[in-house]
Amino acid sequence: MAMMEWNDSLKVGHSIIDRDHQKLVGLINELGDAMSAGRGRQACGEVLDELVSYTQTHFANEERLMAAHRYADAPRHRAEHAKLVRDVLDFKEKYNAGTATLSVSLLHFLMAWLTHHILESDKALAHGIPPG
Ligand SMILES: [Fe+2]
Ligand SMILES: [Fe+2]
Repeated sequence: MAMMEWNDSLKVGHSIIDRDHQKLVGLINELGDAMSAGRGRQACGEVLDELVSYTQTHFANEERLMAAHRYADAPRHRAEHAKLVRDVLDFKEKYNAGTATLSVSLLHFLMAWLTHHILESDKALAHGIPPG
C-alpha cells in the first residue's frame, strides 16, 4: 500500500519540479514497501540511499532555477533544503553505524516535511519563476 499518494494538490505547475516531486513520492513509497516487507537492513539502506541522493539532485535542480531567475526568496528556500539534507545525512550516518533504525515515524516525518515544503515553499517558487 502506498504510504503517500501523489495527487493534483501537490502539483506546483512546473514540469521539472513536479516530475522530481513525483519521483520522490515514489521513492518514499518504495522505502515504506521495503520496510513493511521486512527487507533487511542492507536492502532498506539502499532505498534510503537512493532517496537521499535523488533529494539532493532535486534540490540542486530547484536551486539552479532560483539562480537562473534571480528568485528573491532563494536564501530562505535554500536554507530549508540544507537543513533537511543535514538532518537526513546525520540519520544515515547513525543508520550505517548501526545506532539508528528505520521507523514509521521517520517515514511520517519525511512525508510531512515534503508535503509542507511543496505546498508552502515550492508552490511559491513555481509562482515566482517563468513557467517551465
Ligand atoms: Fe524546495
Ligand atoms: Fe521541491
